[in-house]
Amino acid sequence: MCGIVGFTGNRNAMTAVIQGLSGLEYRGYDSAGIAWVADARLAVKKTAGRVDDLAKILPVAHPSLAIGHTRWATHGAPDETNAHPHLSPDGKIAIVHNGIVDNYLALKQTLGEAFLSDTDSEVVAHLIAREYRGDLLAAVEKVLPLLDGTYALAVIAADQPDLLIAARKGSPLVVGIADDATLVASDVVPILPYTKEVVYLDDGQVVVCRGKSARFRAAGREIEVATTTIDWSVEAAQKGGYPHFMLKEIFEQPAALRNLVHHRVKIENNAPAFNLEGIELPTDYFRGVGRIVLIAQGTAYHAAMIGRNLIERTALIPSYAEYAADFHYRDPLLDPSVLVIALTQSGETMDTLQGVRKARDAGCKVVAVVNTVGSTIAREADGVFYMHCGPEIGVASTKAFTAMVASLYILSLRMAQMRRTLDPAEIMRRTLDLAQVGPRLEAVLSTANYIRQIAGRYAEAKNFLFLGRGTGWPLAMEGALKLKEVSYIHAEGYDAAEMKHGPIALIDENMPCLFIALLGRRYGKVRSNIQEVRARRGRVIAIASHNDDQIHEVVDDVIYVRAESGVMNSLVCAVPLQLLAYYIAAAKNCDVDKPRGLAKSVTVE
Ligand code: AGP
Ligand code: GLU
Repeated sequence: MCGIVGFTGNRNAMTAVIQGLSGLEYRGYDSAGIAWVADARLAVKKTAGRVDDLAKILPVAHPSLAIGHTRWATHGAPDETNAHPHLSPDGKIAIVHNGIVDNYLALKQTLGEAFLSDTDSEVVAHLIAREYRGDLLAAVEKVLPLLDGTYALAVIAADQPDLLIAARKGSPLVVGIADDATLVASDVVPILPYTKEVVYLDDGQVVVCRGKSARFRAAGREIEVATTTIDWSVEAAQKGGYPHFMLKEIFEQPAALRNLVHHRVKIENNAPAFNLEGIELPTDYFRGVGRIVLIAQGTAYHAAMIGRNLIERTALIPSYAEYAADFHYRDPLLDPSVLVIALTQSGETMDTLQGVRKARDAGCKVVAVVNTVGSTIAREADGVFYMHCGPEIGVASTKAFTAMVASLYILSLRMAQMRRTLDPAEIMRRTLDLAQVGPRLEAVLSTANYIRQIAGRYAEAKNFLFLGRGTGWPLAMEGALKLKEVSYIHAEGYDAAEMKHGPIALIDENMPCLFIALLGRRYGKVRSNIQEVRARRGRVIAIASHNDDQIHEVVDDVIYVRAESGVMNSLVCAVPLQLLAYYIAAAKNCDVDKPRGLAKSVTVE
């Protein structure tokens, strides 16, 4: 998710845009650019790098109209060519874009023009130019309906010295109305230095800005809109009003996963069509795959453990999850029939990169599931499945975890389709189930305050056990990792079946246990494990099924989730684990976003 800024008014637009972009770098920072109008000409400066690098290459200028962009690449490497703004072929129209134009390739084909970049966004500038006859608003309003996907757009033209047009569908866009200027931006941060009076655009709305005048439109007609007075600090605005990026990113999960599913799955002719953009494999490739090895570290490894179960059950391919570091140093027996799937949010984890290289040296195909476009692992893999869940700033990985699980599920369904290991009706049913992920996550997020109360009762714990069976086991490991890395409480995740093989010796009134205890074929065994803990005065929190009307009798606290399928269980159960860790850490005044001793990307072995 990039950051965009536009300014028109009788102040220095270049200063306003550059300062605004600096405040939006938490939304993306792999490249930056600015376009402005001076003497009826459009000037553009772009760079691969941060906004500060862009500022260093700017000329002294005092334009009254400018747009700018700080990028989080989705299509096209994070380099200067792909940086925004993008121009029309005649260089007279410039656009900046946050979002994904799903149908950009088809639109490019209809134009039959040469493109300078590999991005999806550039096609928008070309389309507007094709419609432009001197009325920029008319041209923009003709193009918007052609765009599938999401956009927050800002557009300027060389021959319109004070006109700024912006539009929104699916990506946030805020309009600031100052006494002597108007601004548009991805959030309020760039606007706050000029005004606290803002309008949050809704999907389908367009704003026409000239100096301090802003007119709002929808469906081709002028509309009235409500203004809001902002009382946030800049820092609070960067976190969307949340106290920490981690909490913001936990709450971003419904939108992130909706976007992922929307981008990767379409229903065509009453059957799911999976978009594996980035993984160019022959249709029958998966028939020849003898074994799949998923490699990763940390939270990504826990997603790999879940992915192993999903792929085996769905595509019927023997699958294994391995710590990348161990995989690399163990000299595994590999051959070209082995597919290696590397999972990594940053795409820079050295252990995982070494595993990728080991696999490629052995002649294996490597597919990377990555969040950061153009990262090292993305570039070295044979195919890459980008998760597009936007920058994850908090060191503790949250939305990337659920995005990885959902990505692996989509991959497993496509494999099942290619290998015919599931009948089409079952694949359709599972696809429609996945499409419910947004509401399911929102439902469990709506219990956040209740989870916060539970967290308050365990914030003084010195140790914690997380336990589960089946998919509950990697979830237990993920819950333990979340808690230990942000609250510094020692926590371990175990397969609950392991209790009697050692951990049960730890149980007493000072050892709280969290069980993933969803209804299903392992439920009875988990209930027995819970009884074993209670018999030894251990306190128990259960994450349980919404329709389990007995569990509350045998545990101290229950967090109910609504899920009726394997993958949805993994996705909805992740949220209480994340929230519990967050609220306990916050209660302990820990540095939640930057825990001691940790880095967001571990680029050393
Ligand atoms: C998880 O919260 C940690 N930040 C850490 O375990 C992380 O998952 C691990 O370092 C892997 O990072 P990656 O996904 O960027 O490869
Ligand atoms: N899809 C556009 C690009 O890759 C915008 C990226 C974004 O919004 O994150 O340049």
